[in-house]
Amino acid sequence: MSTFIKDLGSLVGQTVTIKGWLYNKRGSGPLQFLELRDGTGWTQAVAAKKDLSEEVWLATESVGQESSVEVSGVVAKHPKKENVFELQVKDFKILQNAVDYPIALKDHGPDFLMDHRHLWLRSKRQWAILRVRDAVIMAINEYLHQENFIKTDSPIFTPNACEGTTTLFSVPYFDLGTAYLSQSGQLYIEAAIMSVGRCYDFGPVFRAEKSKTKRHLTEFWMMDAEGAFIEHEENLKIQEGLVRHIVRYCLGHCSAELAILERDIEKLKQADAPFVRYTYDEAIKKLNELGSDIKYGEDLGNDDEGILTKDSVVPVFIEKWPKSIKPFYMKRDPENADRVLNDDLIATDGGGELIGGSQRENDHDLLLERIKAEGLNVADYQWYLDLRKFGSVPHSGFGIGLERAVRWICGVEHIRECIPFPRTIGRLRP
Ligand code: 4AD
Ligand code: MG
Repeated sequence: MSTFIKDLGSLVGQTVTIKGWLYNKRGSGPLQFLELRDGTGWTQAVAAKKDLSEEVWLATESVGQESSVEVSGVVAKHPKKENVFELQVKDFKILQNAVDYPIALKDHGPDFLMDHRHLWLRSKRQWAILRVRDAVIMAINEYLHQENFIKTDSPIFTPNACEGTTTLFSVPYFDLGTAYLSQSGQLYIEAAIMSVGRCYDFGPVFRAEKSKTKRHLTEFWMMDAEGAFIEHEENLKIQEGLVRHIVRYCLGHCSAELAILERDIEKLKQADAPFVRYTYDEAIKKLNELGSDIKYGEDLGNDDEGILTKDSVVPVFIEKWPKSIKPFYMKRDPENADRVLNDDLIATDGGGELIGGSQRENDHDLLLERIKAEGLNVADYQWYLDLRKFGSVPHSGFGIGLERAVRWICGVEHIRECIPFPRTIGRLRP
């Protein structure tokens, strides 16, 4: 019977077949200890020379690291370890023998590993990150549907900018001139909410970020959520609910993965409590008190985010930023026309900005004024302005960067490990 390694615990005493790869191997006289992986987990297969034909024994001796294999044997409890199961090998087939696999189970430098990303993905650590990434996606989809959002999606080729014109990638587009790769699908789901009320997109977005940091990719995945009749306060409530749901979901589904990553689970558990909230003005004041030389009107740097979250066990919202440093579509704060009704959510443990969100300007004339003031081409935004002419409603939304969320949940230092094939200013291969 063919089975998965994750299910071995319920098959003790039975003969099963596992199809997978040889992760590692250790020989000792008439025994070979073969560490197998099949995508669902790892297990040890013990091959004893006395139980096998000459041909099969030779195969276990000669098989190379990362060869694809098919192994049959009897499932047994590990002699010493609780809840660990192994296979007593009856048959062992090499499907394709791998010779000189380039990644040894020892430390390699990051450039070497990134050059071999197509193979590096097989390591335990990368396996764990890929699985947490999947759990974060599942958690996001689950939470949003609970909150009555449906998935609608947005185009990737776009005629105009969403998040400022300095980080656009352009592509020649037939006879129609230049297309830009989407920086965020927000503007399009603002149109879709007028049909379905609440919706989200979830897909790749692109930013020609010149910054070489541990938090920036040029291609990353973003979930943009948007809802009609949602105002600033409720927007923050939904964001907090979402992030806490992601934390709970990953704690519930990924304990093995988080253990491999040596993530401090207690810290994650603590993050599932009401988030802290500062206005931008309060944040600047606090930062200055704590030794930052940031001035009013400036964007927070990486160090500032670290200072502000250093003593917090929960993520921190910074709301109501100066209009001058935020995009054209944000709604002015009725109590202070220089501020907008927006928020950035900053994670703990150096996780940095996870979410950017805001209430949107729903007044046609004010929005037009902002588009002009930013020097944007009004014709490109005519369709977007239309939304303010035909049944405009107060509405809000936010975008969460998937890899930022994965990086924070996993406690991984560099965002390049949080997407299967990262794209950064210095990397386009493999
Ligand atoms: O704050 P941002 O730029 O917000 C928007 O794009 C809005 N249109 C979203 C919306 O309101 N629907 O980006 C949202 C999030 C950031 O908080 C961050 O998590 C992530 O996207 N992000 C990046 N992740 C990786 N690499 C980059 N270069 C990123 N830039 C933004
Ligand atoms: Mg932002």
